[in-house]
Amino acid sequence: MNNKSEEILEISHVTNRYRDSGTGFFSRSKMTRVLNDVDLTIHRDEIFGLVGESGCGKSTLGKAVLGLIPFDGQIKVAGMEYSRKNRQEFTRCVQAVFQDPLSSLNPRRTIAATLEEPLLAHGIGTPESRRAKAIEMLELVGLDGSYADRLPRELSGGQRQRVCIGAALMIDPELVIADEATSALDVSVGAQILNLFQEIHDRKDFAMLFISHNLNVVYYLCDRIAVMYRGSIVEQGDSESLYNAPMHPYTRTLLSAIPEIEEGDELSRYGYQETRRESAPDGCDFYHRCPFATDQCRQRPELTDVLTDKQGTEKSSEHFVRCWNPVR
Ligand SMILES: Nc1ncnc2c1ncn2[C@@H]1O[C@H](COP(=O)(O)OP(=O)(O)O)[C@@H](O)[C@H]1O
Ligand SMILES: [Mg+2]
Repeated sequence: MNNKSEEILEISHVTNRYRDSGTGFFSRSKMTRVLNDVDLTIHRDEIFGLVGESGCGKSTLGKAVLGLIPFDGQIKVAGMEYSRKNRQEFTRCVQAVFQDPLSSLNPRRTIAATLEEPLLAHGIGTPESRRAKAIEMLELVGLDGSYADRLPRELSGGQRQRVCIGAALMIDPELVIADEATSALDVSVGAQILNLFQEIHDRKDFAMLFISHNLNVVYYLCDRIAVMYRGSIVEQGDSESLYNAPMHPYTRTLLSAIPEIEEGDELSRYGYQETRRESAPDGCDFYHRCPFATDQCRQRPELTDVLTDKQGTEKSSEHFVRCWNPVR
């Protein structure tokens, strides 16, 4: 039991398309690919970061894992694939915390009722035991029993997010997805919530997929990181390796705390010439922006292990990059 190498989330070959909005009545509606053959595995007790600029497909991947949208490929949580039949059992395994705590909370429901709801929905415990667990959870998330009978509007943004985190943990899920969970908060409050995730993770047994557009935030919290660009994982590795020695030109553009960067701006910070060329439809997703692109980049590179050729058989770290000419 509790084998740390146990795979809690297994995503293989996941692709997702959305129908383009705005296509007219007579035009054939076009599909836009949002996730492109995503593979990703998260182990028991691990905090895994998914980072990439706004619109790259992070939330779409999170929704696919939660069973909220259809996709091609396979996703397993604790060995289980989502289906309508096992919905109840599946949602016991995976819970989520989102960006905006206010819209996640029912304004008319007391904090205790919000915390008890997942237990009730899964038919767990008695009214007394549920109440007791809610009080215990309030303490775990840094509030206390005095919050139990309050309403969401009486709490600050940070306190509300603490309640959402508590609600996600009430049924002891195997996997927690946090999607931009600190992004709407003031910097100092966001930092407290990050610390809370860390503390709770040290005390409880769950794996976490932590989604953010901010590489600094992800680096602070996560054991491993995957960088997404236009629906593809372009680089993945141990946090230290990826943050301190990024090899994909795109990852270098992300090494900035500025949330919404203009394309091109960040490249120039690294002394790159801004590069504009036509996209290569079957090639590297970063082809049109990359200062190092060659003709070879018109073909899609694989996500390649860059440590194997340098190290022996036993690997304690990993670093993958989807680039023909990784920066070293
Ligand atoms: N329900 C939807 N219908 C159509 N397009 C969508 C829908 N949801 C997201 N998209 C598009 O998919 C892309 C990825 O969105 P999203 O996963 O929310 O990105 P991120 O979370 O990385 O900011 C965006 O271009 C977005 O406009
Ligand atoms: Mg998102």
